[in-house]
Amino acid sequence: MLPSPPDIGLRLAGFGSHLPERVLTNSDLEKMVLTSDEWIVSRTGIRERRIAAKDELASDMGAKAASKALTQAGLQAEEIDLIITASITPDMTFPSTACIIQEKIGAKKAAAFDLQAACSGFLYSLIVGANFIRTGSYRNILIIGTERPSSILNWTDRNTCILFGDGAGAAILQATKNSGGLLAWCLGADGRHGDKLYLKNSWAARTLDDPSEPPEDYLVMNGKEIFKLAVHGMVGAAEEVLAKAGCTAADIRCVIPHQANVRIIDAITERLQIPRDKCFVNLEQLGNISSACIPIALEQAAAHYSLKKGDKILLLAFGGGLTWAAVLWEF
Ligand code: ACO
Repeated sequence: MLPSPPDIGLRLAGFGSHLPERVLTNSDLEKMVLTSDEWIVSRTGIRERRIAAKDELASDMGAKAASKALTQAGLQAEEIDLIITASITPDMTFPSTACIIQEKIGAKKAAAFDLQAACSGFLYSLIVGANFIRTGSYRNILIIGTERPSSILNWTDRNTCILFGDGAGAAILQATKNSGGLLAWCLGADGRHGDKLYLKNSWAARTLDDPSEPPEDYLVMNGKEIFKLAVHGMVGAAEEVLAKAGCTAADIRCVIPHQANVRIIDAITERLQIPRDKCFVNLEQLGNISSACIPIALEQAAAHYSLKKGDKILLLAFGGGLTWAAVLWEF
């Protein structure tokens, strides 16, 4: 039986990730657009990224990551009550990628839906899932971030095509009687800046009288503006959750920020006065995998820092919308 709501704790019972095999290096990109390894590394920190195969859609990668998370949690797929999937590159508009993954992993009893918050989607989903558990509604929730930006990039636009990579990460959120879990959270959005990072759907404005085929849509970004807003948004969100929990940066075992640009990460850690070695970074090998950045990094950081019960970690996300989110989590 589930404990009554005030006694419900939360734990992350398992992690899983999936990365496509194909590696696209900066020197590969030098052959595609006018750029250089030196420029990309010095401006972003990225050296290489993964690219999904033709038959490797968001649901395929998400299902693989989910299966690994289930194994680590020691759960059968039938024990999952809810699947929340975040993606800017869903297989289809509908059915949801969550429903497709539900079928692929055999989570027959799970409700399933997608949550759209761009790069902040995994943290938005984690917070939504945590609140379902806290109300006593569900015991086991599968949260997935799965992304295939390679399918929405304009590969002739050097401003954007160098930044992103493909992959998926998943986590199992579970009700427990122990304390800890979600110590504090914050969600934010500012639609006024929606025009600074978007993927248009040209079909949206098609009419009965318009016989023309809409053009292909690609990701569009104002990099300079997004850079500034990302630093501001994630620093503000971090300060808010630390204050809510009565913690300081010194209480944090590690920070897992959105993996967009190492200069954004440097600016955040400097402003929050968090030592750089407490900040987990994997973008050098993976680039920006949008909503999948945080779950992939979570799995890797748990091993890297040997995270154990009682360790507090700070998760920070920022993305199109604009959206942002922060979570202070106790293992
Ligand atoms: N190779 C070589 N030159 C380039 C490239 C490239 N790949 N891309 C742009 N340039 C050029 C520009 O054209 C410009 O040339 P110009 O001065 O002749 O016009 C010059 O380099 C400088 O461009 P800036 O835009 O000033 O470069 P900046 O230092 O701002 O770096 C970057 C650009 C890397 C995109 C940066 O602004 C950034 O990372 N912004 C954040 C964007 C981001 O992370 N988006 C991901 C989604 S949102 C998120 O996940 C948080």
